[in-house]
Amino acid sequence: MTISTHASQNWNNSEDVIIVGAGLAGLFCALKLAPGPVTVLSAAPLGEGASSAWAQGGIAAAMSQGDSIDAHVEDTLTAGAGIVDIRIARLMAGEASDRIHDLLELGVPFDRDLEGHLKFSREAAHSERRIVRVNGDQAGKAIMDALLVAVRQASHIRVLEGYVCEKLLKNGPVITGIVARPEQGNALAAVVFPARAIVLASGGIGHLYNVTTNPVEASGTGLAMAADVGAVLADCEFVQFHPTALNVGADPAPLATEALRGEGAILVDDAGNCFMKNYHADAELAPRDIVARAIFEEIKQGRGANLDSRHAIGNAFKSRFPTVYASAQRFGLNPETDALPVAPAAHYHMGGVLTDANGRTSVNGLWAAGEVASTGAHGANRLASNSLLEAVVFAARVANDIQDLLPASRVDSWATLDNNPPMVFDAPDQDMQLRSELRDLMSENAGVVRNAKGLSTAYKRFSELEKFSRSDTTRSMIIACKLVTASALMRRESRGGHYRDDFPDTIPDLAKRSFIKLAELDRKVDEYLDT
Ligand code: FUM
Repeated sequence: MTISTHASQNWNNSEDVIIVGAGLAGLFCALKLAPGPVTVLSAAPLGEGASSAWAQGGIAAAMSQGDSIDAHVEDTLTAGAGIVDIRIARLMAGEASDRIHDLLELGVPFDRDLEGHLKFSREAAHSERRIVRVNGDQAGKAIMDALLVAVRQASHIRVLEGYVCEKLLKNGPVITGIVARPEQGNALAAVVFPARAIVLASGGIGHLYNVTTNPVEASGTGLAMAADVGAVLADCEFVQFHPTALNVGADPAPLATEALRGEGAILVDDAGNCFMKNYHADAELAPRDIVARAIFEEIKQGRGANLDSRHAIGNAFKSRFPTVYASAQRFGLNPETDALPVAPAAHYHMGGVLTDANGRTSVNGLWAAGEVASTGAHGANRLASNSLLEAVVFAARVANDIQDLLPASRVDSWATLDNNPPMVFDAPDQDMQLRSELRDLMSENAGVVRNAKGLSTAYKRFSELEKFSRSDTTRSMIIACKLVTASALMRRESRGGHYRDDFPDTIPDLAKRSFIKLAELDRKVDEYLDT
């Protein structure tokens, strides 16, 4: 465990603002909170463990000639399959340009054309060229690198690495702090961090599935901690599966960006036959969920699925897509000469903790930003390259809201954790086998294709497993699994990323977001369970 503190400072922790998570939303929010003091709790060392750094797409922003905020909103609505909150989508698209300028000021080296103007790429389902990228597929890493430099230089930010957050604390209706456990210290000692405001920026739920593009930290604990203190959750059934993760047995599975298909790469089975035309007229450029289901079906039928870039990209692959190239090389593959085996992987959670336009949750003192939040911007299916955008737009809004709402901080100093007597909780983490069962159940029953039978089997088993979990983290994972499966059971239709083979149609009357609280979950889901 590393504790980064600014040595000359003392800390009066009861006045602190705490951010849970050090991905794009967490760090951007921390920077925007300047000069107010803020503590960032991160399970992984700074710069690691965040999906943001692995993003290969870019950021969507309607800034190119001929593009408009309206067009960006329209594309977002279409992808979201009828349940995007248009007001939120407008805010997001409207503030994109300001946030891109913030990132430029922080030194993000977005790609430029020969005249030095920002270069905008096109991506599937965007009607205009509006994606700012960095060196082909390296936007996430470059953005995070720039933020890390700024955070390390910012004297108002303290980052505590190696803390796994386990529980939010509430006094009556108000959040008062958070319990976190030092990952590599005494496994029995957990620390209470009092706080006057907590921002959840803990990422998604990909690691609830056994094939995912997300880091291990994305296991739904933020979602569950908020659920545990009574927050309203929204749209939990909507999980986006990326069609083309490299199927090389790695956990997490390396991503092969959509941009490859945008550049003409094709999908072929193990015998070299193209198959996407059998599923959709737009073939490789069909919506993400349709491509994911097609690949899922080809693999299920034993034909296999591979991404073949040899003709479209050929020996320009290494220079144009260095991240994918390096991932393939690690597994003995060369995309310039081989078709890459691919499979769908849990990639992004459209659902999460319900937030308003300022990132406020339904619990006093608790905000959320980034993938853990459900702002309503993505609806049932996120438009590619809108996630980093949503993270920065709403992280900035959260910071403004906290600054407006809370009285000026009296904190001008920080102390070490020695002033903070550790609290002892009962069990170290010993649930690896149980977690592996959770992930299998989720992939098998709440994955790319779902139905009442599988979802019910999984939900009932999660309820049994709750009794055996020996740590708060495992219990949180089970809560998150239950939220996704229950919400999927209760949506008796197919829409966006949620596909049910027992209810394959989209029902116009069901074009509504879903909302749930943990306390009512078992009662509400009961009538939907297959017996
Ligand atoms: O395929 C991709 O580059 C993914 C982009 C995204 O998830 O936004």
